[in-house]
Amino acid sequence: MVTGGAGFIGSNFVRYMLDKYPDYRILVYDKLTYAGNLDNLLDVDDAPRYSFVKGDICDADAAAQAIKTHQIDTIVNFAAESHVDRSIMDPDAFIKTDVYGTYVLLEAARQFKLERVHQVGTDEVYGHIEGTHRSVETDPVAPRSPYAASKTSADLMTIAYHVTYGLPVTITRGANNIGPYQYPEKVVPLFVTNAIDDQSLPVYGDGRQRRDYQFVLDHCEGIDVVLHRGKLGEIYNVGTGSEMENLAMVEILLDELGKPTSLIRHVEDRPGHDRRYCLNVDKLKALGWQPRYTHEEAIRQTVRWYVANEWWWRKIKSGEFKEYYRRLYGDRQALDTSTTNRSGWQ
Ligand code: NAD
Ligand code: TYD
Repeated sequence: MVTGGAGFIGSNFVRYMLDKYPDYRILVYDKLTYAGNLDNLLDVDDAPRYSFVKGDICDADAAAQAIKTHQIDTIVNFAAESHVDRSIMDPDAFIKTDVYGTYVLLEAARQFKLERVHQVGTDEVYGHIEGTHRSVETDPVAPRSPYAASKTSADLMTIAYHVTYGLPVTITRGANNIGPYQYPEKVVPLFVTNAIDDQSLPVYGDGRQRRDYQFVLDHCEGIDVVLHRGKLGEIYNVGTGSEMENLAMVEILLDELGKPTSLIRHVEDRPGHDRRYCLNVDKLKALGWQPRYTHEEAIRQTVRWYVANEWWWRKIKSGEFKEYYRRLYGDRQALDTSTTNRSGWQ
């Protein structure tokens, strides 16, 4: 049962697993929030080993019903509110889904004695990382946004269920994923689709924040490896192990599109913006996993997908999204970059 399987990473994971394991049956259980989209799963829709149930992970009865009816043995939990900026504007749904919803799934797994619950976590639980350190799984958590705090709570509850009840759990903590079917609120699809339409790219602050932009299939493969070879009760980081500045990502993206850097517009920074994430991924590599895509390949491949798939994103950008964009970016002041602090931590 892939909860949140109609979202970005979940839908890529479903396609990857159906392809790789011809004897697996997969149920997607998804509430279909603004970020859930059955278009993401159109190409597997008639596969006999795939089924879909619309449901909320906070609804214990509905989740139990789906587990019973579909004879579920494993839950992979992608279901979450996933965007930092939305968590700053409106944290409520984050606490409900990411914290309480995860608890509901853990309880259901305990009740039905499932073989595994895999919790899909994030590198944001480590907070911003200074210097050249790469986060290891034993580092203290230090979340700084409501999103990161809600995901940290989910990780902690998952481990608590393992320790207290012996529930068979694993956790992965992924870096910034990019690739097909990512909702265009996240930076890469937002900037690609804006640039295609010659609209400006709102770079927060100086744009020198550092992220590990990882191709989504590398993340899916990492989760697959942990599901099959990971140790119960353990956490595994999933990233490329390297990082890049946002401005460098933007330059590659514009180069792939053949668009000018004059589209870049520095705007007021995100409150509490983490300057740097970087993961040490040795623990996952020791299970035999390797990332296959560099940052540059991941960005260029993602750009090409959005260029080829306007049918998918134009619909989204003309709906609820317009109001969201006005709310988040409407009053944001443009920055005079000559006075931007280019080295300080905020
Ligand atoms: P997404 O926002 O694209 O998809 C989330 C999915 O969850 C949607 O289909 C949505 O309908 C569903 N959902 C939301 N609330 C639900 C609820 N209460 N019950 C059932 N379904 C619900 O997110 P994504 O980017 O695909 O991220 C998936 C998971 O991976 C999340 O847990 C996220 O925290 C984690 N993660 C994401 C990234 C990233 O870069 N996007 C990196 C690391 C970890
Ligand atoms: P995002 O895709 O929201 O992921 P996260 O905040 O979870 O890392 O943002 C990635 C980086 O891009 C982050 O440093 C914030 C920055 N960013 C912008 O500069 N402008 C934007 O409009 C957005 C959405 C993000």
